[in-house]
Amino acid sequence: SRVSLEIVDEVDSTSSRLLAMAASGAPAGTCLAAEWQSAGRGRRGRAWVGGLGGSLMFSLLWRFDRGVTHLAGLSLAVGLAVTRALRQCGVERAQVKWPNDVVVDFRKVGGILIETSGEMQGPSVAVVGVGLNYRLGDQLEKIDQPAVDVAGCASPVPSRNLVLARTLAELAGVLEAFEAGGFAPLRSEWRSLHAYEGRRVRVMPPNEAAYEADVVDVGEDGTLVVSAGGRSVRLSSAELAAIRP
Ligand code: BTN
Repeated sequence: SRVSLEIVDEVDSTSSRLLAMAASGAPAGTCLAAEWQSAGRGRRGRAWVGGLGGSLMFSLLWRFDRGVTHLAGLSLAVGLAVTRALRQCGVERAQVKWPNDVVVDFRKVGGILIETSGEMQGPSVAVVGVGLNYRLGDQLEKIDQPAVDVAGCASPVPSRNLVLARTLAELAGVLEAFEAGGFAPLRSEWRSLHAYEGRRVRVMPPNEAAYEADVVDVGEDGTLVVSAGGRSVRLSSAELAAIRP
């Protein structure tokens, strides 16, 4: 399938722009990348700061004829695509972090924001927004969590163009696979690349108190199975944090 890419100097948010373009009929495969975002958005309503050559920020519009039944699975599939692409570009230790961050040695190198509209069973639209720390230098310390950049994790350093091209190619492949078979065919590769597989983590659910648990499995629907105090819990949305020994 075809991806058509536009690169602009500045936009409020590539994802906001694409959601608007989707509403007026833009086709699947439309991609918008920006050097600077004045209102970049992260998950859980957080802002995503980045620009001036230090980040790679883009969004890709996708259309699913049969709807997206398991959003959790889609989000994992996208994390897998970005991780594969970074590995191809020399970031050999890139791993996924449930639900869809990309990390190197437990430090964030990229984030993903997926927004959908439409029906569960009928045609629907997904806007996949990806922000990668490419070359942030001193700005890395300003990020509110441990973070690394591509330039610090690969040698030789891949060009930003190459990272974008590989990421788009992997995304298109994974989105097609997801449309055909959901997350199930991608699950074992995803698990093998999960930084927290078998580890103890702090779970921060959206509206409840945080607790400690052990990561046990990931389901075919993309939910994370953890065990806490002898009880098995299936998470469809939460944030994980590493527990330092
Ligand atoms: C997160 O880790 O919270 C997700 C961050 C997603 C940021 C990207 S940058 C390109 C796209 N446009 C946005 O406004 N957000 C996403």
